[in-house]
Amino acid sequence: MKNIAIFASGRGSNFNAILKKQKNGKINGEIVCVISDCSQPIVFKKAESNNIPTHTINIKQFKTGEEYTNFLIAILEKYKIDLIILAGFLKLIPSPIVKKYKNKIINIHPALLPNFGGKGFYGKKVHKAVIESGIKITGITIHFVDEHYDTGNIILQEKIEVLPNDTDETLALRVLELEHKFYPEVVKAICDNQIKIDNKKIIWER
Ligand code: GRF
Repeated sequence: MKNIAIFASGRGSNFNAILKKQKNGKINGEIVCVISDCSQPIVFKKAESNNIPTHTINIKQFKTGEEYTNFLIAILEKYKIDLIILAGFLKLIPSPIVKKYKNKIINIHPALLPNFGGKGFYGKKVHKAVIESGIKITGITIHFVDEHYDTGNIILQEKIEVLPNDTDETLALRVLELEHKFYPEVVKAICDNQIKIDNKKIIWER
């Protein structure tokens, strides 16, 4: 059983989707804490109603970046974390944590990376940019996390069509459906040790 930390700062719908699969006994792991840089994100309410501990950890609470990093590491060690899932966490993960948890941190992005990714591309901004670009296909990318925004090795991409009358809101909803279907599946695969990494190549042994 892998101990899972969710890093999230928003409404927590991906947290919910993963927890649901866990509760159905499909995931060989357990969400043991939720960490946010915000003080009262909606996701905390969802976690607390499931008796999952929550922690607000914001770099502004610390004198230095190093203190912040060390505090985060101490929390991750306290919970014996094996897998970190970013689900709507907008801050960059400090480099020592990326190194310590190499290939143990994953993120989901609501577009097909490397397009429409990087700093500033989050939430509706992504879907707005997708619609404005005129491209006909968008989707989701689930990837390992490195030191930069949205550049880690890709585990899975799933596509959907951008419809002529889509707005950023309608598109966001359909992309979110994909997220809820596939993020829990990737989490399950990682917990079942089905994801193998050969340099940049990711192999999913189903
Ligand atoms: C999702 O759209 C995800 O792709 C992005 O942040 C959003 C989180 O949504 N990384 P939620 O809080 O899980 O509902």
